[in-house]
Amino acid sequence: MQVADRLQKIPPYLFVTLRNKINKARAEGVDVINLGVGDPVDPTPQSVIDELCRQAQIPINHQYPIDEEKGMIAFRREVARWYEKRYGVELNPEGEVLGLIGSKEGCHHFILGIVNPGDVVLMTDPGYPAYRASIYMASAEPYSMPMLAEKNYFPDFDQVPAEILKRAKAMFLNYPNNPTGACATRAFFSKAVEFAKAHDIAICHDNPYSEILFEGQERLSFLSVPGAKDVGVELNSLSKPYNMTGWRIGMAMGNREILAALGKVKENTDSGIFNAIQYAAITALRQEDDNIGKMLAIYGRRRKLVMETFAQIGSPFTPQKGTFYLWIPAPREMTSIDFTTALFEKAAVVVAAGTAYGRHGEGFIRISLTVPDRRLEEAMERIKKVFGS
Ligand SMILES: Cc1ncc(COP(=O)(O)O)c(C=O)c1O
Repeated sequence: MQVADRLQKIPPYLFVTLRNKINKARAEGVDVINLGVGDPVDPTPQSVIDELCRQAQIPINHQYPIDEEKGMIAFRREVARWYEKRYGVELNPEGEVLGLIGSKEGCHHFILGIVNPGDVVLMTDPGYPAYRASIYMASAEPYSMPMLAEKNYFPDFDQVPAEILKRAKAMFLNYPNNPTGACATRAFFSKAVEFAKAHDIAICHDNPYSEILFEGQERLSFLSVPGAKDVGVELNSLSKPYNMTGWRIGMAMGNREILAALGKVKENTDSGIFNAIQYAAITALRQEDDNIGKMLAIYGRRRKLVMETFAQIGSPFTPQKGTFYLWIPAPREMTSIDFTTALFEKAAVVVAAGTAYGRHGEGFIRISLTVPDRRLEEAMERIKKVFGS
C-alpha cells in the first residue's frame, strides 16, 4: 500500500516511539518508569464525572452534538466567563469562541483553515512536534525560529529572512511553553501582534498550560494584549488544569474570521464534541478551580524533588516557571541522546530527549511531573545511584 507523500515527511510521533520502547522492555520484565509523557495520572474531579454520567443518560445527547461545528452555546458562554474571570479577556460567545476536541485538534484545523499548499508556517525550535506534522499535512512548509535560553526562550522575529516573511501565512506560539516551561510577557505578545500585522501573519497561540504556573508567575492570555484579536486565536484545553486529557475537550477563542475557517473545517470533518462531555466541561470550568490549586501544590512538590536530585548529582538547574515539565541541561555536557540512553539503560527511567523538539533542544532533556509521587521518588533514587559521584 502506497501512503500519502505528505506523511513521509513526518517523523514517527515521539511518544509512540517511546511507548514501543517501554512496552518491549516491560515485556522483558524491566520495571520502567516513564517520565516522558505529560499526561496527568491524578483523577478528573468527581463532580465532572458525575455530570458526564447524568448527561449520558439523556437520549438527546446521544445524537450529533448541538451546534456541532462550534460547540453548544452553554459551553461557549462558560468559556467566555472563565476567560473573563481567569484572564480578564472579554469574549463574545457568538463568533469569538469555539469548542474543540482538545487543543491539538485546534492546531491541526487552524492550519487547514488558514494555509495553502506551499505557504510557510513559522514555529519555534524547540517546539511541540504536532505543529510540524500539521503543517506538513496541509502541504505547507515549516520554518523554525530558534528559541534559546539566552533570549529568554523568545523567538527573534528580526532574524526571519525576508523571503520567508513573504511566504509566511501563519505562526504557532506556545507559552507557557512545552518543552521549556518558559512563560511569555505582555511585551513579547505585543511584539508578536505588531510582527503579525506588519507581515499579514495569522497567529495561533496554543495555551493549554495557562494554569500550570509556579513561583507567583501571573496567568496570561495572548488575547489580553491590544490588537491580538485582529491577528490571531488562542487555543486552550481542559486536559491539563482539570486532569481531563482523555476526555478530549478544549476551546479556540479570538479572531472571528479564523474561527469561522476553523469551524468550516470542523463541520466537514469531526462534527463536534459529545454533548455530555460539553456539559461535564461546563461543570469543570464553573466549579473546579480548586482542583487547579490542588494540582499545583502536587506538581510544586515534585518539581522541588527533581531540582534537589539534580543538585545532588552535581547538575543544579533553575527551572522556568510554567508547565508541569522540567527542561534540564544534561549533566556533564552529555548530548540529549547520550543522557536519555544512559538513563534508560542504567536506571530504566524514560525521559524525553530535547532533540525530539528540534535541534536547538540539544543538550537538554524534558522530565514530566505527571507521574505518581512514589514513582517519581523511585526514579530520582535510581538517578542518584547511577549518576551521583
Ligand atoms: C503545546 C501543546 N499543545 C497541545 C497539546 C494537546 O492538548 P490537548 O489534550 O488539549 O489536545 C499538548 C499536549 O501535550 C501540548 O503540549
